[in-house]
Amino acid sequence: MTRLLLLNGPNLNLLGTREPGIYGADTLQAIEQRASERAREAGCELLCFQSNAEHALIERIHQAGAEDVGCLLFNPGAFTHTSIALRDAVLAVRLPLIEIHLSNPHTREPFRHRSYFSDIALGVIAGFGALGYELAVRAAAQHLARAPQRG
Ligand code: DQA
Repeated sequence: MTRLLLLNGPNLNLLGTREPGIYGADTLQAIEQRASERAREAGCELLCFQSNAEHALIERIHQAGAEDVGCLLFNPGAFTHTSIALRDAVLAVRLPLIEIHLSNPHTREPFRHRSYFSDIALGVIAGFGALGYELAVRAAAQHLARAPQRG
């Protein structure tokens, strides 16, 4: 069965209570559950991992390279705008990436306009709140059905 890895970066464990006017009222657990349902419907398995620590996310990405994951779905949180190390980890494992944001960073502060991931992603889904995670699962499943080879 095709495996997808959903990664969430710092502060996304606080979804539900964190700035709900920007990020919505859903908890990360609820978002992961709905995304997992979409994955099952598409014949895929969704693995989920959240960390506030850059090194833990890097190590999870390395592990994905060795465990038959077909695509990374990643909301890097604030690491979007800062982390060359996470970008390098994604490039190192040569897995396709879909970048997700609940908000649309381009409508926000200028420091959120730069992403270290967008130019190496298959696509970016931003501004649709929690729905973006479900859309990303569908996009990943469709991409892998059309191009099952790695990379
Ligand atoms: C975010 C946008 C980032 O700028 C911010 O630091 C986050 C969440 C989003 O999902 O909209 O933590 O990635």
